[in-house]
Amino acid sequence: MKKPVIAIDGYSSTGKSSISKIIAKKLGLVHLDTGALYRGITWFALQNCIFEDSSIDLKKLFLSLDQIELEFKNDQGELVLYLNHIDISRQIRTNEVSENVSLVAKQKEVRDFLLQSQRNLAEKGGIIMDGRDIGTVVLPDADFKFFLTASIEERTTRRYNELLELGITADKEKVKENLIARDKIDSEREIAPLKQADDAIVIDNTFLSKEGTIETILSYLQNI
Ligand code: DC
Repeated sequence: MKKPVIAIDGYSSTGKSSISKIIAKKLGLVHLDTGALYRGITWFALQNCIFEDSSIDLKKLFLSLDQIELEFKNDQGELVLYLNHIDISRQIRTNEVSENVSLVAKQKEVRDFLLQSQRNLAEKGGIIMDGRDIGTVVLPDADFKFFLTASIEERTTRRYNELLELGITADKEKVKENLIARDKIDSEREIAPLKQADDAIVIDNTFLSKEGTIETILSYLQNI
């Protein structure tokens, strides 16, 4: 029997990726954090495609997309992105990338470039993909779709603590501003905006722990 395909979408810092990773381990599935793909392209753009004022030169980025080779290595169930053979896991978490990623992610050229790779990874089943448009655009036929949301205050605290754990000190107010700005751009963009699929199960985890959210999701996945 084909293993299931599970889509987990939602707002920034609702715990999508860490929750998906744990559920994938429990169920013997692989996990792909699709946000890492957009962050990877943003990191590439910041390295290779900037104007003198340090802003991203989108035209140059679009022309450079064919120089980007994406590989996914399975590290204990986690699909880790290698961009042009470099593991950029740490580099894509910096503030500079976070501040520019929504601009890059809203570009049609970038989304088209990443769409097929994501679909290919789900072809054989047995995957949990988390992102913003997985249930609506990337995998509209996913077997299960979840949509996570939480208050902005709670999400700010989570993101701030996540950065601290990575050894990155940030200003909490700036973290909040960045989350609000990203959600706005992500929700209002023309192509594949952040929105819940009509058939998604919505979970507000403002007052739920990570474990509580995992249990809630697992309760829907009992018989797989
Ligand atoms: O989940 P994240 O914060 O790492 O995502 C980074 C950015 O990428 C975020 O601004 C939204 C965008 N993104 C997207 O547009 N579509 C996805 N499937 C995943 C992320």
